[in-house]
Amino acid sequence: MNFHEQIKQGIPSVLPEAKPYPADANRAPKRKDILSSDEKQLAVRNALRYFPKEWHQELAVEFAQELKDFGRIYMYRFKPTYYMTARPITDYPAKSQQAAAIMLMVDNNLDPAVAQHPEELITYGGNGAVFQNWAQYLLAMKYLSEMENDQTLHLYSGHPMGLFPSSVDAPRVVVTNGMMIPNYSQPDDWEKFNALGVTQYGQMTAGSFMYIGPQGIVHGTTITVMNAFRKVLNKGENSQGKIFLTAGLGGMSGAQPKAGNIAKCITVCAEVNANAATKRHQQGWVDELIDNMDDLVARVRQAQANEEVVSIAYIGNVVNVWEAFFEHDIFVHLGSDQTSLHNPWSGGYYPVDISVEESNRLIRQEPEVFKEKVQSTLRRHADAVNKHTARGTYFFDYGNAFLLEASRAGGDVMSENGIDFKYSSYVQDILGPMCFDYGFGPFRWVCASGNPEDLDKTDAIASRVLNKIMRESPEEIQQQMQDNITWIDDAKQNKLVVGSQARILYADAQGRMEIAKAFNDAINSGEIGPVVLGRDHHDVSGTDSPYRETSNIYDGSRFTADMAIHNVIGDSFRGATWVSIHNGGGVGWGEVTNGGFGMLLDGTSAAERRLKSMLLFDVNNGIARRSWARNEEANFAIKREMERTPKLKVTLANVVEDEILNNLSF
Ligand SMILES: NC(=O)c1ccc[n+]([C@@H]2O[C@H](COP(=O)([O-])OP(=O)(O)OC[C@H]3O[C@@H](n4cnc5c(N)ncnc54)[C@H](O)[C@@H]3O)[C@@H](O)[C@H]2O)c1
Repeated sequence: MNFHEQIKQGIPSVLPEAKPYPADANRAPKRKDILSSDEKQLAVRNALRYFPKEWHQELAVEFAQELKDFGRIYMYRFKPTYYMTARPITDYPAKSQQAAAIMLMVDNNLDPAVAQHPEELITYGGNGAVFQNWAQYLLAMKYLSEMENDQTLHLYSGHPMGLFPSSVDAPRVVVTNGMMIPNYSQPDDWEKFNALGVTQYGQMTAGSFMYIGPQGIVHGTTITVMNAFRKVLNKGENSQGKIFLTAGLGGMSGAQPKAGNIAKCITVCAEVNANAATKRHQQGWVDELIDNMDDLVARVRQAQANEEVVSIAYIGNVVNVWEAFFEHDIFVHLGSDQTSLHNPWSGGYYPVDISVEESNRLIRQEPEVFKEKVQSTLRRHADAVNKHTARGTYFFDYGNAFLLEASRAGGDVMSENGIDFKYSSYVQDILGPMCFDYGFGPFRWVCASGNPEDLDKTDAIASRVLNKIMRESPEEIQQQMQDNITWIDDAKQNKLVVGSQARILYADAQGRMEIAKAFNDAINSGEIGPVVLGRDHHDVSGTDSPYRETSNIYDGSRFTADMAIHNVIGDSFRGATWVSIHNGGGVGWGEVTNGGFGMLLDGTSAAERRLKSMLLFDVNNGIARRSWARNEEANFAIKREMERTPKLKVTLANVVEDEILNNLSF
């Protein structure tokens, strides 16, 4: 069967042969054995819903075994035999070009060159799923191939509930991932309901088909490191020869050394997993590998003396580095951490003084002992960081729940009021006030033709548009504009494209709209093929996450999720081609609500109408909320937008004098 036939048939009419998992696959970790016997029966019963009765006997045994071996039923036998990759949009069998664009994006998220555990349909973050199983993939692709422009496919955590009649202006796909009744959002609820096959963890861009490989993270991390140095350096100083100490060379964290090099500093990044460190070194993401502390100290001193720009991976525990640098009096300008503390009990954070192998054994056999070791390490980690910050190091939380878990472990990370942390998160200090509050966020696009020349042309168009806007921009956003112009001008030479022909570019509402309009014009004139627009959920408006995206909201509303919900609803009726809303993403299940969109630009006037309406709302919804929370930068940005857009009327906050409140007695 050729590719078209396979897509159009959905669940095959003949039971495919059972096949072994490929020996060289990067397997997802075995999930917790959480279901009772009755629940395991229910999980198999649920899985068999996708298949004809005559296969049930054989598949029931196989699925029960998968549940035993992996803790989940992935239905690996049904994985298609064709190579999974983002093909040019015209290669997909489809009646709707919008549906074909979505198929391309789905396949990109499952491309083995892009996805972390492709056999288990996991794109990134260890648990960021596109679908729960291969039957869902097959059915969704079949529906997309049949879909017309007045139908909408509703996906419930990967499960295609069906195609429903809608209208040409409605989204073609509506995605929800992990939406739970709020009381059922503890980490074990994910384990249980995911094992039952009724929900999934979509992370941010995994379950919404908007992942574009590592370049998204490199851009964001570069902006963070550059702006962090701007915060701490005196006028006239530069970052050369100054140290950025952090940890993690995994999926996202692996971008840190590359970003450090672009930001021109000495990056020391600890990584306990020698394989992960070596892989990043081989990929050219980190310059040097060092596995003993004496060598590290000597090399860092040399780099400081020579004011080098260099990135060094230390193979070992980050706590040892913080402690050794203190003993050796090595001054750290910037400190952070990107171990996976959103997932502390199953290998996201490795305790100090025991091997990785021993840790993995404890996770499986003595989880309580492992938990104690993680918590004592976190206390030691916090103490070591505190000693450095007392000397002047600027430490920031990198949205990985380091401060949250350190506080839960009893680490010394709380400020005197007992409510706030001693240190700010990268969003509180950097991305929030410098980017999100002004509307700058990780806008992205994919050239659906798959042609690299189209990507070059879009880079040039985006640069031209930003340069034009910058000439008329106020002082407040000049620095951001310049950073983003530099990024797009260097983007090609940074060689960051993996999978689809995609580009990330931080831009504000005006930038996003004008770039999108210029793309649509270029498509209309035949200069380039169709373009899919989107963004990371880690953005101005799409995500409510009290310890990350909305951590710089100080009016108490950071624990609410209205903004994310308004965003997804608002985008859906303003012309998004697909919308998605997720529970969990980055910081963990139950800790965040996040949403995003995809939009196909096809050069038509309808696409122009949609992009103008939707992008304006998609950014300004968040700026309005940030402004209402009394964030000065957002207040500035929303007033500017109201001047530009007469039909936009946003409620503005009146700011009370502290003195009035201080005189109150309660
Ligand atoms: N990069 C970003 O922009 C960004 C933004 C927000 C949050 N985060 C968070 O950063 C974290 C990391 O993400 P990831 O995709 O890289 O995860 P990952 O699990 O792929 O990588 C984390 C790495 O940390 C290593 N590690 C664990 N404990 C260690 C220790 N004590 N010392 C040294 N190394 C240790 C692990 O071996 C692993 O390779 C996540 O919690 C993520 O949510 C990243």
